[in-house]
Amino acid sequence: MKVLGIESSCDECAAAVVEDGRKILSNVVNTQTVHAAYNGVVPEIASRTHTEWIYAVVQQALDGAGLGPGDIDGVAATSRPGLLGSLLVGLSFAKAFAWARGLPFIAVNHMLAHLYASRLEQAPVPYPFLGLLVSGGHSLICRVDDFDDITVLGTTVDDAAGEAFDKVSKHYGFGYPGGAAIDRLARSGDPEAFNFPLPNLHKGQHPYDLSYSGLKTAVINQLEQFRRRPAPVASPPSPPAGAAAGAGEGADIAASFQRAAVEILLRSLFRAAGDTGLGVVVAGGGVAANSYLRERLAARQDLRCVFPPLELCGDNGAMVAGIGCRYLARGERSPLTVTASARVEGFKRKYP
Ligand SMILES: Nc1ncnc2c1ncn2[C@@H]1O[C@H](COP(=O)(O)OP(=O)(O)OP(=O)(O)O)[C@@H](O)[C@H]1O
Ligand SMILES: [Mg+2]
Repeated sequence: MKVLGIESSCDECAAAVVEDGRKILSNVVNTQTVHAAYNGVVPEIASRTHTEWIYAVVQQALDGAGLGPGDIDGVAATSRPGLLGSLLVGLSFAKAFAWARGLPFIAVNHMLAHLYASRLEQAPVPYPFLGLLVSGGHSLICRVDDFDDITVLGTTVDDAAGEAFDKVSKHYGFGYPGGAAIDRLARSGDPEAFNFPLPNLHKGQHPYDLSYSGLKTAVINQLEQFRRRPAPVASPPSPPAGAAAGAGEGADIAASFQRAAVEILLRSLFRAAGDTGLGVVVAGGGVAANSYLRERLAARQDLRCVFPPLELCGDNGAMVAGIGCRYLARGERSPLTVTASARVEGFKRKYP
């Protein structure tokens, strides 16, 4: 079964063709770089750009797979969560494509698709396992019993992990998008230069919940309070104009922030692994591309950690086509009246 998957929930205009839920025949991801000028995604510009690009992106995905519209067996698109105007472009295009060709159509939850990304092009991990879903808008630690059956064990009580990377990067002018910029810069920094605080959520609260607002405030507003090593002498290359810190200093801030941000995730994840007895972790979402997170998880002898390939961590159509194929193969269909939703709904929670 060859499924066309369309993803337009934020600033990636993406389409892919996946065969039998596993084999990627094409995967086109067009990132809207226009938002760099604003240091963040501007929803109106995002949806307008999707309307300009969507036809060509889908055409490229078909061409890349060496297929015509008549070779496609089903269509999947992200319907939630995301920016409403952006979601509507990909969803409407997908519904129109399916209707015009008389194809089965399925609307997909983007977060489940992120988790499915690790099942593409590599041996699928048997269920159940622990899921670590970390992206620009979400941070979830969950028990995963099937591709569409997850129980949330912990989630962020404020900012998402990726959002924290983006806000710190924006403040210090490290670059856009922020997560990848911090990951790069941190490689030349001292992760022990600052001892940023970790949240203390477990006392009387849900044991696997996460919080990033305290860390963000410490890094952005209270830097000096957490300095452990003296500031290095600045050396080239200089940071971008407007940056608050020198090059060496900037790298130290990035490395120390990244260490704390990853520690927040791992503390809850390791606690959940210990309590549930689940020995396999599958990661997904843009932050799953983080090299320090990957390094730390690889170092754990008692846990098997599976990551999607780097190019499938951020938003893409292949993960949508892949999970879409699973639903379609099970005989599920979405009505063409289905609409987009900004929010993710319907996940079971262990700690309501
Ligand atoms: N190497 C990296 N290290 C840390 N964060 C990263 C890295 N690469 C990307 N990110 C972060 O991942 C996020 C983007 O991921 P993704 O595209 O999955 O999120 P989104 O689709 O915007 O949000 P959501 O999936 O929650 O709707 C951004 O916040 C970005 O900074
Ligand atoms: Mg995403």
